[in-house]
Amino acid sequence: MKPVRKAIIPAAGLGTRFLPATKALAKEMLPIVDTPTIEYIVREAIASGIEDIVVVDGKSKRSIEDHFDSNPELENNLREKNKLELLELVEETTDINMYFIRQSHPKGLGDAILTAKDFIGDEPFVVLLGDDLMQDEVPLTKQLIDRYHETGESTLAVMEVPHEQVSEYGVIDPAAKVKDGLYRVKSFVEKPKPEEAPSDLAIIGRYLLTPEIFEELEKTKPGKGGEIQLTDAIDTLNNRQHVYAHKFTGDRYDIGSKIGFLETNITFGLKHPQVKDELRAYIKELAAKL
Ligand code: G1P
Repeated sequence: MKPVRKAIIPAAGLGTRFLPATKALAKEMLPIVDTPTIEYIVREAIASGIEDIVVVDGKSKRSIEDHFDSNPELENNLREKNKLELLELVEETTDINMYFIRQSHPKGLGDAILTAKDFIGDEPFVVLLGDDLMQDEVPLTKQLIDRYHETGESTLAVMEVPHEQVSEYGVIDPAAKVKDGLYRVKSFVEKPKPEEAPSDLAIIGRYLLTPEIFEELEKTKPGKGGEIQLTDAIDTLNNRQHVYAHKFTGDRYDIGSKIGFLETNITFGLKHPQVKDELRAYIKELAAKL
């Protein structure tokens, strides 16, 4: 079994939900407290043992490339001022093997993954979507890699969501529970209407895929929203190799919507050593006025 060493992070979306902030700035650079959202994703991959990360980006994404590059001027400045903790923080993100591919004409998530085909080659790999931050004792990407060592097949993360929200997700039709938290899957449906959804188990943004997915993606026609859907390619892959679903039970923060983004900032702020006490006091004061 080949080791799982590579990750794809798709980041070619226009971020229209966060306009005007995203007119010139990549959505992935918006911070949760003090850290760009994409850095949380990259850290999850690294903590899971991933060695090489490719970001599939689009226009206005230069800031992502700069963030993971060295910045000698800033680093010298921090060194001179003896701000060594900050220096360490800045340097941590420059020692990662990050690669960038430009998706010039974004045609959907499936197309973004296909763009990274040559980078991945003939190896299993993971996909991490930037709109979901996950927290658990073991990083979710590592959980998927551990499952892959059991199953030897593609495995994606799912979570139970309220029934009326299923139309925002890819949804699985579970065939059989293999063991606690692991399902064989009958089919995968992208954003079904609630009345047509086969279950409330939604695909959340972490996938472990075998390289055969690229053959399926090459054949996949535009689906929901006229886009090449990764979910559709996974559904056809499931006809030739079993695809498994791993149920995530940790905390998931949906930062793809304004409200989710604000809630996550507050939640992470309440845990941040530098601001948690002041923020808690401020929220109490504010609540008393409401
Ligand atoms: C994408 C996938 C969908 C998945 C979701 C998870 O949708 O197409 O299957 O459930 O991510 O966040 P998007 O949110 O990009 O529309």
